[in-house]
Amino acid sequence: MCKYARPLSKSSAAVFGPRGGAGVLEGGVFRWVSVFAFSVLAATAVAPKAGAQSVTKGPWVLELGEDSALLRVETDRPATVSVSLSAVGHEAEGALSFEGQTTTHPDDAAIGSVRLSGLRGDTRYEYVVRVGDDEERGELWTAPPPGAPFTFVVYGDNRTKQDMHVAVVEQMLEETDARVILHTGDFVEMGGRPRDWGDYFRNAGALVRRTGLFPSLGNHEIYGPGGLARYHRYLTREDTRETWYRADYGDLTVLALDSNVDWEPGTAQHDWLTATLAEVAEVAADRFVVVILHHGPYSSGRHGGFDDMREMGVPEQLRDAGVDVIFSGHDHDYERGDVDGLKYVVTGGGGAPLYTVNERSPHQLAFESVHHFVRGRIEGGRFHTRVVRIDGTVLEECSFAKGEPWQCEGGSPAGPVEPGISRQEDFFQNYGKRYGFYVVLVPVVIGAFLYAWRRRRKQKRAAKTDEKS
Ligand SMILES: [Fe+2]
Ligand SMILES: [Fe+2]
Repeated sequence: MCKYARPLSKSSAAVFGPRGGAGVLEGGVFRWVSVFAFSVLAATAVAPKAGAQSVTKGPWVLELGEDSALLRVETDRPATVSVSLSAVGHEAEGALSFEGQTTTHPDDAAIGSVRLSGLRGDTRYEYVVRVGDDEERGELWTAPPPGAPFTFVVYGDNRTKQDMHVAVVEQMLEETDARVILHTGDFVEMGGRPRDWGDYFRNAGALVRRTGLFPSLGNHEIYGPGGLARYHRYLTREDTRETWYRADYGDLTVLALDSNVDWEPGTAQHDWLTATLAEVAEVAADRFVVVILHHGPYSSGRHGGFDDMREMGVPEQLRDAGVDVIFSGHDHDYERGDVDGLKYVVTGGGGAPLYTVNERSPHQLAFESVHHFVRGRIEGGRFHTRVVRIDGTVLEECSFAKGEPWQCEGGSPAGPVEPGISRQEDFFQNYGKRYGFYVVLVPVVIGAFLYAWRRRRKQKRAAKTDEKS
């Protein structure tokens, strides 16, 4: 069983020790009640350390490819992690065994990875992770060969509203053939708050145990002390150790970008992207290439598109290299569009509060303010998307062939476009409601204070004049 209870820290145990002695407390019943209470607390503090280690988050799988993957797990303290895999349909070949180690981090948890290698391509594996007496089970599905179909899911911005996230995950679990998750960022509300990560891995646990996770960094992951460090610990690939990377899975190439850093030429990510796009351009004709990132260059929602990225000419770079579609988040809604052949999808409906702003960029082809995910499938030389709302209804289904425009159900290039409010209306609706009272109250209080002050000053002057006369 996966346990999320955190053991008491060493400092807590140290406090209970010297302060809890019976000699400190006076009185009959009170004394014995206190001794009993201390015993229970001391046992609680010590018990987790005395037993075997256990899993506190995960496992989840990164770097999923044709013949290898990276399994990551968090344990309550440093532990040896044993992983046993068996290929479904090839059980006679016997199980593969791997071992790794988790190591301690400043927040008291221990995290580690186990490299799984020598796997069969296009094969579903069932795995068992053993840590102490704890046993966790999951699945992974290695990448298919060129031309073979497969399914994946795309979503983001699940932070904050846990019940909404759980409901979206339940819909994604209906996609039983999904092999990979592309995440557009904002996994947590505050990256520096450990319990937020606990929420993520608990709520998405069933999903990340049967898919490979391809993450991108949101702005909320870097909020709070140690936020970015936690993101690295949980989600950064070991092959790059960067918040940007390229991953290939079947006929899909994923370029994950970090939209939280500077885009100036000469920066590490810019140089990497330029070099990587040159490589991607060589193979893009035979593959679908997607970019995942948090702040996309195009969006009609409350936050809007990422100006810096457009000013730096990044969309042109991507288009020229053969990138087909950009998946972004940050705006908590769904939007689909096309800018001179470069397609984009904003999918930020994983659970965070929805935004109703829709400024309808001229490139917009569909928009809805709704919790949702995107189911993607590559099949028959086409890239298919189906947008599924939190209630299981389908918002729209589209597809495109390489270099061709979106084709959506009914032959229409446009999906449903819901009338939205403008950014100005949104500002007054949100901030007016929240701060309107203070906007009225503060000038009234300041005015009353000034009136009283001037009146008092007048009275003093009058009194002085009376004294002189
Ligand atoms: Fe967000
Ligand atoms: Fe965001």
